[in-house]
Amino acid sequence: MKKTTKQYLEYLEMSGIQDIFFEERKMNSTEKFEKLKAKTLKCKKCELAKTRNNVCFGNGNPNADLMLIGEAPGAEEDKTGNVFVGRAGKLLTKMLQAINLEREDIYIANTVKCRPPENRDPKAAEKIACLPYLEKQIAIIQPKIILLVGRVAAINLLKQDIPLKTFRETTHLYQGIKTYVSYHPSALLRNPNWKRPAWEDLQKIQQDLENLK
Ligand code: URA
Repeated sequence: MKKTTKQYLEYLEMSGIQDIFFEERKMNSTEKFEKLKAKTLKCKKCELAKTRNNVCFGNGNPNADLMLIGEAPGAEEDKTGNVFVGRAGKLLTKMLQAINLEREDIYIANTVKCRPPENRDPKAAEKIACLPYLEKQIAIIQPKIILLVGRVAAINLLKQDIPLKTFRETTHLYQGIKTYVSYHPSALLRNPNWKRPAWEDLQKIQQDLENLK
């Protein structure tokens, strides 16, 4: 219902006209998601808005059981507005395929939605400004499993400042959702020795997804 219509009905009611009932139509999750996306794409809450070319909101299936969360967009992502499409993204696609998942089967997002210049680490103020968008994304998607890749995403959501190795030792709960922490694909490109433990993490997730069926 339009705000002006609602105000008019409230005015009629206050003027003594009885029995005016109206119900706010609740937005469904697709509408909520689109509204959040539109708001995020216009965001100017931090200084990254001045240097970005595109806001990288996220890609994939908003009804997915698995949501993967990375750090921040790089150059390719900034150019296209899509997440994980550069070198690290190509590796991520292969890693997902190794557990029989296509990118479209899951939802992929970042903790920070705009590219930090020269791929520097996102600043605290940028992470704080962007976090509500991610929190709302998760609340609407309601994934059954979250996979945080890299320490930046893990610290940001789990609010613990511990080494990645320690994060990986257990699963965590984010808002009641089972949450894994694993290596960021960029780290795997730098150090292929981590591919084995990353693969083991993915296999556990694959098993969890199977168990959901
Ligand atoms: N690294 C990330 O964390 N996210 C991207 O979208 C690309 C690279």
